[in-house]
Amino acid sequence: MVIAEIIDGVLQKLYNEIKTVHGENADDVINERFTYLSKRYKNLVSGEESSITVDYSDPVTQFAYVYRYVTAYSDYIYQIIKNIKKVSSIFDDSPVKIALLGGGPGSDLLGVLKYLIRDNKNTNIFAQIFDKEKNWDNLWADLGLRICYQSEMKLFSSSRTINVTDPNTWSGYTGVPEIKLFTMSYFLSEIYMIRDESKEFFNFITNNAMVGSYFLSIDFYNKRVNSWVEEVFSNSCFKQVAKIDGIVNMCDDEYAKFNREFYNKFGARKVQANVQIYLYEKII
Ligand SMILES: C[S@@+](CC[C@H](N)C(=O)[O-])C[C@H]1O[C@@H](n2cnc3c(N)ncnc32)[C@H](O)[C@@H]1O
Repeated sequence: MVIAEIIDGVLQKLYNEIKTVHGENADDVINERFTYLSKRYKNLVSGEESSITVDYSDPVTQFAYVYRYVTAYSDYIYQIIKNIKKVSSIFDDSPVKIALLGGGPGSDLLGVLKYLIRDNKNTNIFAQIFDKEKNWDNLWADLGLRICYQSEMKLFSSSRTINVTDPNTWSGYTGVPEIKLFTMSYFLSEIYMIRDESKEFFNFITNNAMVGSYFLSIDFYNKRVNSWVEEVFSNSCFKQVAKIDGIVNMCDDEYAKFNREFYNKFGARKVQANVQIYLYEKII
C-alpha cells in the first residue's frame, strides 16, 4: 500500500466538494490558497502578530495543506520511526497509545501507520489527536479508515478540540499518563508566537506523562523554535535522546504514485525539507 495513493483518494473527495461550491473557479481558488499558506508559514516565527495564525477551517485550505505537505510530513515521521530504534521499539508492544499534539489532518498518524504496514507489525494503535481546528476531524478519520480497510490494522482514534492557550479545553483530559509517544509535527513553529501563553499546556502534558514516554518533534529548521523546544524539555525529568538536523527527502517510491491530474493543475508537492528533529524521553 502506498500512502500517497490513500492521500490522493481523500484529496479527490475534497476536490469534488470544492468543485461543487466553486465550479470552474475551483482550481484558481485552490492555487490562491497555496500562496496564502506559504506566506503564513514564512511569517510564523518572526511575522507581525496579525499574520501568524493560519485558518485551516475550510475545505479549500485543507486541500491545499494536504496536497502540498501531508505526503512528505507523514513520510518524515515514518523515516524517523524506522531509523531511531528507541521509537520503533515502542511499537513492539500492543496496544500502544499515541498523542498527536497539533495533529491537524493526522500526518503524524499516517507516518506511524506507514511504518507499521511496511514493517509488518500488528500493533493496535490508539491515537489521540489534539488540535484547535475541529474541521480536521473528517479528514483524519477518513485517512485513517482508508488505511485500516486496506491493511486490516486496528486503529482507534479520537480527537479533542483544544487551544493550547485555554486550559478549559485540555485540563480535564485524564488520558495523558497512558500515552507512550507524543508527536509534534510542524506544531511548535505554528504556536511559537504564543509560546508564553502555551506554557501551562506543556507543563500539564509533561508533568502528567508517564516515565518512559517519548516526545518527538519535527519542524522546519529555525534557531528560535529550536531554543524553545530545548527550553520546554530542559526539566531534569527529561533526557534528550536524539537531536538531528539536516535535509530530509521523501521516499522515492512514493513519487511515481502521485496523481498526475493534480500535478498538472497544482504543481509539485513538498518532497524535501531542512528540518530539526528532537526526541526526548521522560526518565523521572
Ligand atoms: C502545520 S499544522 C501541522 C499538522 C500536522 N501535525 C502535520 O504534520 O501535518 C499545525 C497544526 O497546529 C494547530 N494549531 C495551531 N494553533 C493551535 C493552538 N493554539 N492550539 C492547538 N492547536 C493549534 C493547527 O490547527 C494545525 O492543525
